[in-house]
Amino acid sequence: MTMRAPACDLPIVFEQASCRVRDATILDRVSLALAAGAPTVLIGPNGAGKTTFIRLAMGLTAPTAGRVTWGGREQAAAVHRAIVFQRPAMLRRSAAANIRYALAAAGVPRAQRRPRASELIALVGLAGLEERPARKLSGGEQQRLALARALAKDPQVLFLDEPTASLDPAATKAIEDVIRAVAARGIKVVMSTHDLGEARRLAGEIVLLHRGRVIESGASEAFFSAPRTEEGRRFIGGELLI
Ligand SMILES: Nc1ncnc2c1ncn2[C@@H]1O[C@H](COP(=O)(O)OP(=O)(O)O)[C@@H](O)[C@H]1O
Ligand SMILES: [Mg+2]
Repeated sequence: MTMRAPACDLPIVFEQASCRVRDATILDRVSLALAAGAPTVLIGPNGAGKTTFIRLAMGLTAPTAGRVTWGGREQAAAVHRAIVFQRPAMLRRSAAANIRYALAAAGVPRAQRRPRASELIALVGLAGLEERPARKLSGGEQQRLALARALAKDPQVLFLDEPTASLDPAATKAIEDVIRAVAARGIKVVMSTHDLGEARRLAGEIVLLHRGRVIESGASEAFFSAPRTEEGRRFIGGELLI
C-alpha cells in the first residue's frame, strides 16, 4: 500500500477573484495567498466584503470571475476547513451533545466522542457546563461552543466571521484566548473583525478590505506601525471609511 501525504488546503490562493451579484461588485479582483502561520485578520468597514471573502475562502461561494485554490487544487471538499458564522445556531441539546453531534458528523468513532468532547470543552474553557442546554448559555459561551464544534472537524484552517461582535470585554477576552490556543496548535485562523484592537492583539497578518478590494495586506506590525496607504492610515486613525 502506498502512503500518500494527506492533502493540505494551504495555501489558499485567490487569483483575481471577483464576486458580483447582479450589477453590484462585492469583491473586486482579489489576489492574495493565505498561508500557514499566525492568524490572518480581515479588517474594513461594514460592507467592505469581509464575509464574502470568508465564504469564498471556505468554498461556500464560488467567485464569478477568477479563481480560488486550496493547496493548488481548484476542487477541494471542505473536510479540512471549518467555519464559525456570525450568529451560530445551537442544537436544542446540551453543550456536550452539540459537540458529540459535530464529532459524529466528522466521522469520529463513537467510542472516541466522549473523551474528544471533554477535551474540546476544556480547550474553549467551558468545563463544568457540559450538561447545560446549549441555548441557555450566554452569548460568549455559545460562541465558544461554536468554536469547539468547528474544531471537532480537526481542521487545518478555521474561519471566524466577527467572532466577538456584540460580546462584552470579558467574553471577548475569553474568545481571543481560545483563538490564541487554536493558533498555537498550528491551525491556520482566518478571521474578520471590525475591532482594531482585536486585530492588533491577534493578527500575524492583516488584510484591509474596502469596497470589495484589498487595499493593503501584510505583516500586522508593519501595517499598524507604518501603513502604506492613505486608507490604511485613515482606518487606523479611527476615521470612517465610506
Ligand atoms: N448575496 C448578496 N446579494 C447582494 N448583495 C450582497 C450579497 N452579499 C453581500 N452583499 C453586499 O455586498 C457588500 C459586502 O458584503 P459583506 O461581504 O457582507 O461585507 P462585510 O462582511 O465586510 O460587512 C455589502 O454591501 C452587502 O450588502
Ligand atoms: Mg460581515
